[in-house]
Amino acid sequence: MEASATSKLLVSDIASSVDHVPSNYVRPISDRPNLSIETSGDSIPMIDLQELHGPNRADVIYQVAHACASYGFFQIKNHGVPEKTIERMMTVAREFFRQPESERVKHYSADTKKTTRLSTSFNVGSEKVSNWREFLRLHCLPIEDFISEWPSSPVSFREVTAEYATSVRALVLVLLEEISESVGLAKDSDCKASNTLGKHSQHMALNYYPPCPQADLTFGLPGHKDPNLISALLQDEVSGLQVFKDGKWIAVHPVPNTFIVNVGDQMQVISNDKYKSVLHRAVVNSDKEWISIPTFYCPSLDAVVGPQPMS
Ligand code: OGA
Ligand code: NI
Repeated sequence: MEASATSKLLVSDIASSVDHVPSNYVRPISDRPNLSIETSGDSIPMIDLQELHGPNRADVIYQVAHACASYGFFQIKNHGVPEKTIERMMTVAREFFRQPESERVKHYSADTKKTTRLSTSFNVGSEKVSNWREFLRLHCLPIEDFISEWPSSPVSFREVTAEYATSVRALVLVLLEEISESVGLAKDSDCKASNTLGKHSQHMALNYYPPCPQADLTFGLPGHKDPNLISALLQDEVSGLQVFKDGKWIAVHPVPNTFIVNVGDQMQVISNDKYKSVLHRAVVNSDKEWISIPTFYCPSLDAVVGPQPMS
């Protein structure tokens, strides 16, 4: 597709030039963020992974079990992904979205099967209302199969993203061990969550949410559940993610050098519904752009995922 045909789809370039939200971004009244009234004072649990290898391991596993069953979400600190890796990833993501549209649009595609693509919605063809978000989606396992498709501008993009994806994968594998243990999946057998995946797959998104002149009319990302196994999200310093619990939305406030982990639909199935894949959404605001970088960890397409025997 030519740049001229797609340029109107890139919300970041609309956002800088309008003082009202174009009608294709306006949600029906029954489906708006209600920014002022709906959030609850609750917060998702913070779990310190430092303790995982010490005498308090059982306590950490208990905290994971509680978080996955009650919230479907938790934050983690001391997770092993180096601060530098995180900082470099955020910086290169910011640089990517600051490039002129003519550069970004080279990666534009509405074809959801593409393994590297820039877009503004889950599926531009089928969505009635567009999201106030531009995103770059990448497949990243194994890296060597996909890296040549990734953007080559900024020049450090591939190197930085490969380092980040490798480091986050190692973290996800640790999390899968813990989660398997916490839900009572039989140890050292085919039943562990990581062994049900066939050839594992790993995707990333770089989400860019531009400032929005009427943030109460639209969503960066409307309420949804993640269809994959588990997700690990890196947020910048602007708060925008909200998690649904007990009829209210909990705002997740960013904490530097932490990840937000959530249970996806497939983990809910593997855990026989003990763990919950819960609704979450991203709201935008009028003065600050923000970036988030979720990693989605999934089974390969040929894997059969079902409830697993418990020990
Ligand atoms: C997602 C998602 C939340 C965010 O991409 O599935 O939930 O904060 N993102 O960007
Ligand atoms: Ni999500």
